[in-house]
Amino acid sequence: MSRQAEIFARQAVYCDGRSPLYAALCRRLAADPRVGDLASDLGWDFPLRLLGALHYLVLAQQASWDDIGDALVTERAFLTRFTAEQDVQTNEVQRAWGLLPGFLSIADGRPFDLLELGPSAGLNLVWDRYSYRYSTGQWGDGPLELAGADRLPPPPELLRRTVEVARRRGIDLSPVDATTEHGARLLQAFVWADQTERLERLRSAIEILRTDPPALLRGDYVESLPALLADRREGTQLVVFQTASTMYVDRSGIDKLRSALEEASRREPIVYLGTGRAPEDDGYSLDVERFPGGELTRLAVFDFHGEWLDWGR
Ligand SMILES: C[S@@+](CC[C@H](N)C(=O)[O-])C[C@H]1O[C@@H](n2cnc3c(N)ncnc32)[C@H](O)[C@@H]1O
Repeated sequence: MSRQAEIFARQAVYCDGRSPLYAALCRRLAADPRVGDLASDLGWDFPLRLLGALHYLVLAQQASWDDIGDALVTERAFLTRFTAEQDVQTNEVQRAWGLLPGFLSIADGRPFDLLELGPSAGLNLVWDRYSYRYSTGQWGDGPLELAGADRLPPPPELLRRTVEVARRRGIDLSPVDATTEHGARLLQAFVWADQTERLERLRSAIEILRTDPPALLRGDYVESLPALLADRREGTQLVVFQTASTMYVDRSGIDKLRSALEEASRREPIVYLGTGRAPEDDGYSLDVERFPGGELTRLAVFDFHGEWLDWGR
């Protein structure tokens, strides 16, 4: 089996049951000779890059899912460049549904000074502008409602807490500017095209973000964290958080992050909320670490995409 056939066949199996459109497309692309011509080196994520590039064109009305073969020829230059240069970049809004009870549980009454590590476009930096539904209650009154399967729901009294956000900052190696047409299209392009619910949620979140976009810095948070932590706002509670990001950082980078948090917390305590590996590896653990000391408490386990939540597991 050729490398092309192998990676597209594997991606097709992964898409089975989740995206019939992409599963069928991958099986066709596995054997299309025009695909191999687009790249000299076919990495494992090439199918995702190509599907993202094709979806980008479809969203721009420059291609149609009914005739992808045509796009492989007419848009060859674009597809070659996009698949070579554009990493797969996503921002999953539904994760905010898993995060919210975590934010509420650490709130100490002061307004939050939020700092997100690896926010992508920052859609989870504006989590307080969405509304949330759990089987034990609701929170917020934003125009986008997030809900899911809370197999172990958060306690109702937690959902009665209110928080205010005084500042929001994010730092990412490749931030996506969702206020631009290109940025918004890029985020949508990496959502599988027949996952309409996810796409609609993403589009609503982009609209909400655009009403007052958060500050997104470009950079490596491992290097920049000390300077960011040194910039504190009087009378606020500094909350550093991340979802699905520090898993890309190596051991020495994680040690550096923790030392920066420890060092900065000598001035004033810092709460760090983040996703980690769940014990059974069936989702993310939602952990809170309090600095100084870095004592870790697991608050919950939630689905990688925020579809279900086990609060207190
Ligand atoms: C899988 S995405 C998750 C995005 C978002 N947090 C979410 O949950 O939807 C991981 C993000 O972390 C960023 N990232 C990874 N390592 C980083 C680093 N050392 N410094 C800054 N950003 C980083 C990537 O650029 C990417 O945007």
